Amino acid sequence: MTIKLQIYKCNICGNLVQILQEGDGNLVCCGKEMELMNVQYDSNELGEKHTPKINTEQNTVNVIGHPMTKEHYIQFIETFTDDKKEVHIKFFSPEEIPEKRIGLNGSGINAIEYCNIHKLWGDNRMLNNEYGKYPVQNG
Ligand SMILES: [Fe+2]
Repeated sequence: MTIKLQIYKCNICGNLVQILQEGDGNLVCCGKEMELMNVQYDSNELGEKHTPKINTEQNTVNVIGHPMTKEHYIQFIETFTDDKKEVHIKFFSPEEIPEKRIGLNGSGINAIEYCNIHKLWGDNRMLNNEYGKYPVQNG
């Protein structure tokens, strides 16, 4: 069973997919089950570098402070409303500034970002809304 907006990775070919429609099946790629990318939250140094920082006054989300080199960079930042009806993704290349406009009109602001090495991280505010540990399955 999948949950809308969950992200899965194939550890063989690198495919990264996001759920747009929930279903009962397990996702398989290259003959193996894909790995669910759990959202990480942490207040340690790693978390400090990876937590998306929401600035409602400037209408931006950023992960400034994280490296943006070819070897280690933020691949995308995604924002979505609490009801997940509005979802916006901005992709980045190395050397770019990992910042995007929040860009949401619906209620609630949630932000996640994906680092090519340290994977998926979420804004701490997501722990306080109805999605709680979204999209952690076993949290
Ligand atoms: Fe990282």
